[in-house]
Amino acid sequence: MHAYQITPGAGIESLEAIKLSKRELQHQEVRVKVRAVALNYRDLMVAHGSYPTSGEGAVVPGSDAAGEVVEVGPGVKRFRVGDRVATAFFPEWEDGKVSPIKTAVTLGAGGAGVLSEELVIHEGGLAAVPAHLSYEEAATLTCAGVTAWNALFVEGGLKAGDTVLLLGTGGVSIWALQLAKAAGVRTIVTSSSDAKLERARELGADVLVNYRKTPEWQDEVLRATDGKVVDLVLEVGGQDTLARSIASVGMGGKVAVIGGLGGGF
Ligand SMILES: NC(=O)c1ccc[n+]([C@@H]2O[C@H](COP(=O)([O-])OP(=O)(O)OC[C@H]3O[C@@H](n4cnc5c(N)ncnc54)[C@H](OP(=O)(O)O)[C@@H]3O)[C@@H](O)[C@H]2O)c1
Repeated sequence: MHAYQITPGAGIESLEAIKLSKRELQHQEVRVKVRAVALNYRDLMVAHGSYPTSGEGAVVPGSDAAGEVVEVGPGVKRFRVGDRVATAFFPEWEDGKVSPIKTAVTLGAGGAGVLSEELVIHEGGLAAVPAHLSYEEAATLTCAGVTAWNALFVEGGLKAGDTVLLLGTGGVSIWALQLAKAAGVRTIVTSSSDAKLERARELGADVLVNYRKTPEWQDEVLRATDGKVVDLVLEVGGQDTLARSIASVGMGGKVAVIGGLGGGF
């Protein structure tokens, strides 16, 4: 079976093709033929050695995949051969409150990831893919999609008519833009690039701000909302943006601290 591996801390140059041998399925394990893999900023962090659970040895990278079940092991109840499935970012967090134990294992950082022809995974670490999603679309749900949904609607509690501020046009922000539009939430999107802002407009963004041309972009947020500011910020910039994000929310508003693209996270 063909796969790739990377050495955390040795950079993207350390990515190399390898061959892995097949192993027999254990109790409740499922074999998945991988059809699509999605990348996240987190995969760069693993390559650079800055992801907390990267470990030291070479690892098959990647957390997000969608594919087809090709074999089920003894005791598997949730899936059958032929089912379309996607990976869960924390395969051992099936329900309930988050905890260090439930989130200790992530695919592609410390444990084997998804950049491989096939995966062997406990059925609890997989979700069924709805028929209307392609494998490519479904693969983007695992990390960026679920993070955006959780920030907007679980922790953020947004509803139609609210306003959300999305920083940059990376995976989490673009997923959030599409979910917010579908839910009737007004969106303000920032980017370093006018061309990317135009793409965001095509996806339905209501207000566009170039954060390079307008370094004090929180003032633009105030103007665009007639001083009412926003209900929620999906904060991904870290030390570059956190103070301006806090200045952009109103009383009772929330800042979902998700990442640190500018460092300090
Ligand atoms: N806590 C969690 O559960 C969780 C889950 C997923 C991701 N994250 C974190 O969230 C962050 C985003 O992840 P991602 O996968 O969406 O990243 P990504 O796809 O790599 O996003 C890159 C984009 O972010 C924008 N960006 C970079 N620096 C910025 C800054 N200083 N201010 C505003 N925008 C900036 C840029 O947009 P433009 O090119 O438009 O300027 C860049 O193209 C990362 O720090 C990641 O580790 C956390």
